[in-house]
Amino acid sequence: MESKFDLSGKIAIVTGAGQGLGKVFAKALSEAGAEVFLMARNLGRLEDTAREIGEMTGDKTHVCALDITDERSVIAACRTVMDAVGRIDILINNAAVGRSNERLLDESLEEWNSIIGTNLTGTFLMMKHVGKVMTAQRSGKVINLGSMTGHVAMRNPTIGAYDVSKAGIECLTRLMAGVWSEYNVTVNAICPGYYMTDLNQDYVREHPDFYEDSLKQIPLKKWGKPDDIGGIAVFLASAASDYMTGEILVTDGGYTVW
Ligand SMILES: NC(=O)c1ccc[n+]([C@@H]2O[C@H](COP(=O)([O-])OP(=O)(O)OC[C@H]3O[C@@H](n4cnc5c(N)ncnc54)[C@H](OP(=O)(O)O)[C@@H]3O)[C@@H](O)[C@H]2O)c1
Repeated sequence: MESKFDLSGKIAIVTGAGQGLGKVFAKALSEAGAEVFLMARNLGRLEDTAREIGEMTGDKTHVCALDITDERSVIAACRTVMDAVGRIDILINNAAVGRSNERLLDESLEEWNSIIGTNLTGTFLMMKHVGKVMTAQRSGKVINLGSMTGHVAMRNPTIGAYDVSKAGIECLTRLMAGVWSEYNVTVNAICPGYYMTDLNQDYVREHPDFYEDSLKQIPLKKWGKPDDIGGIAVFLASAASDYMTGEILVTDGGYTVW
């Protein structure tokens, strides 16, 4: 039986694919059969990801330098994909910077602009230029990365530009799902809760109280395993989700149900 989750022959871009969840998404799409373009600023980390994927699936991946805050870089990256393979079927807008860990009104204008400029404006630029390709093709799947912390207002005192940027991602997702529906381009978002990536593992080691307190708020009483999120991206990138657009999938162990 042909699998609804099969991505064979599909061309995908994953931004921020050199580490963390971006690496997981790239591996999962590749395992499902897609040819993946790994993009970020640090080419060394992307090459490591490409090597790991090669060892795992033997599949072909490509590495491409990209700074999502620079429109010329975004245009050049799209051109690289189009020159190489002539289409873009899947875009995972995963690249982002983290929170400043200061109270919102203590954040400097530079911090605010840098976080909003990367997470929200960077995603907008990727959608703008990849969107031109997808609307012309009359097909495409865009998956944006929001966050549980942009989905609801958290009680954490250091909510700030990061959380505002992720709330903006949800709005951008719904808006563009509507606009691109006539072109058969779907736009959905994944909003992760706490996932135990390498960086978060370091944070938890340094802040054990934060970790213990977080477990009390999570009905499933654990942080997410990074590898578990890959299948959600495969679902949103595949024919299995063809009738789904403008949807926000919150994967937070139940944190936001209370
Ligand atoms: N991990 C979690 O628990 C969690 C929870 C909620 C939401 N999220 C969201 O999920 C996504 C991945 O999270 P993560 O924890 O895996 O993040 P991460 O480890 O910080 O990785 C983010 C990646 O984005 C890339 N990046 C940053 N700025 C960029 C730019 N200007 N241009 C191109 N690439 C850029 C970085 O690569 P370079 O430095 O090489 O460019 C980096 O590899 C993010 O959108 C994050 O907000 C994560």
